[in-house]
Amino acid sequence: MCGIVGYVGDRQAAEFLLEGLSKLEYRGYDSAGIAVYNGENIRVEKCVGRLAALREKIKDDVPQGTIGIGHTRWATHGRPSDVNAHPHTDCSGDFVVVHNGIIENYLALKEALIEKGHVFKSETDTEVVAHLLEEVYNGDFEESVREVLRRIEGSYSLVFMCRQHPDRLICTKQDNPLVIGLGDGENFIASDIPAIINRTRRTYILNDGEMAVVKKDAIEITNRKGELVTKKVFEVNWNAEAAEKGGFEHFMLKEIHEQPKAVRDTMSQRIAKDGKRIVMSELKWNADFLNNFNKVYIVACGTAYHAGLVGKFYIEKLARIPVEVDVASEFRYRDPIVDENTLLIVVSQSGETSDTLAALKESKRRGAQTLALTNVVGSSIAREADQVLYTWAGPEIAVASTKAYTTQLILFFMLALYMAEIKGTLPDDEIAHFVSMLQQVPAQISETLSDVEPIKTFAKQYGFNEDVFYIGRSLDYDVALEGALKLKEISYIHAEAYAAGELKHGTLALIVEGVPVIALATQKSVYEKTLSNIKEVKARDAVVIGIAAAGDEELEKYVDHVIHVPETDELLIPILTVVPLQLLAYYAAITRGCDVDKPRNLAKSVTVE
Ligand code: F6R
Repeated sequence: MCGIVGYVGDRQAAEFLLEGLSKLEYRGYDSAGIAVYNGENIRVEKCVGRLAALREKIKDDVPQGTIGIGHTRWATHGRPSDVNAHPHTDCSGDFVVVHNGIIENYLALKEALIEKGHVFKSETDTEVVAHLLEEVYNGDFEESVREVLRRIEGSYSLVFMCRQHPDRLICTKQDNPLVIGLGDGENFIASDIPAIINRTRRTYILNDGEMAVVKKDAIEITNRKGELVTKKVFEVNWNAEAAEKGGFEHFMLKEIHEQPKAVRDTMSQRIAKDGKRIVMSELKWNADFLNNFNKVYIVACGTAYHAGLVGKFYIEKLARIPVEVDVASEFRYRDPIVDENTLLIVVSQSGETSDTLAALKESKRRGAQTLALTNVVGSSIAREADQVLYTWAGPEIAVASTKAYTTQLILFFMLALYMAEIKGTLPDDEIAHFVSMLQQVPAQISETLSDVEPIKTFAKQYGFNEDVFYIGRSLDYDVALEGALKLKEISYIHAEAYAAGELKHGTLALIVEGVPVIALATQKSVYEKTLSNIKEVKARDAVVIGIAAAGDEELEKYVDHVIHVPETDELLIPILTVVPLQLLAYYAAITRGCDVDKPRNLAKSVTVE
């Protein structure tokens, strides 16, 4: 995820900017840059690659000055490159900005600014903000930034510099973190606490919509209406390691909690202004393009494969196109029937998984059209595929994939709706209904995350069992597979996911007294059948934890405990039901003292066959 730093004081700004950015390196990035006011101009230095490359670039001529901003970029709009790196400037170079997040209406703003004569250098959404500030600037820096904020939509933390006001930085945030570090005759700004804790532990944490004017010896914070805000100083007492995890004990837990934002970001810019349709400006498909395909394959590994199973369900149900899903390591060696009438969709968080990449290359060689769903801009898979849709989950650091999975599900759902509209397989009002349900998902994930105590208790109760079974039907089965994988990989408990109807064809022999069974029962069309399967395991004295939608009062009659998730359309509920399963795996691993973020034998990115 992008990192932001800022400094104003009497010391050389570049020194802190580089140090602060180095403390954010753990979050992953692809380019870095700084901007420092040198008494005359704002000098910007930036380049693609690691911070070491930036240090090397400026080593004989470090920008001199006591006010500046810096950034490490994780590409979203535009590939990793020197020009796309932040900071970004307007035409004159007088206005400089760094940004985390996504400016959703940047294309419309960019077109309007180009008409007015602005010349853009990068492909980023961020550059629009610098030009917009130049456009509206009326001599009053604060008021002009406010005007910019009135015109931009999206999620952001932003820090602005202006050559005409070299004594101050202005920063603001919406749905992205930003913190101000309080020094003595100097002040700091950062997107995350690790960047500043070597310098100060006294901070102001900005809230959404607040704007701060930060000078070396004064900080003024106002709300959206321009009213002064009095803030309490927040003393950071975390150590550096805890600070990296945002106060969470592990990256995995942090990433589980980041899912509402990751899902919201992945939806942003893909929902039409009227909130009734899906827009995929990256694809520009039409009926001719889609009708050309007699087969869609989804190919991926591990958790991404599990997302693909749900993707198949969505595309078949909504767009009525038959889909086959395969694990990449099998697909590539079974002489698959792939030709120019095949659409191959590969799914990969890292964009570097060797088997998935090989399947993609092989399918291209055989003439298929290819689409990648990935989280990493400029990754090998993104570069190799004909077309790309990005999940905007931000970097995933924990080995066990969580927010990548939920964002992949959201992206598949949007893709299926987009295909359905093109194919005419769903009426407009049904598409609009689904889009409105979709928009509620981030808040529903937050609600699911708000009460983890029962899950902790179950994890303690059952964390030392040898075997755990996950059952479900239809989409519940797909989620069961992901739940079981999470438990296996981080807690080392043997876990099996079974299509509930398959139990009696063999696995039921393993169900004996006290064996925990996690039973998902959210799919209405198979609800009664799932209940029968639950009764089968209860009759063998299994301990059953049911996962149900809010309002379901039936399930609790047949199981030992129930975890409810908010009510939504049954197609979208996998994005919610997976959350308690992630948490269950997490707390079971904690109970067993496992190394949650780095489970044994596993790597985050599998670049070998
Ligand atoms: C499980 C997990 C793995 C990955 C798999 C594919 O939690 O993370 O199963 O999903 O290795 O990785 P990507 O998505 O990077 O291709």
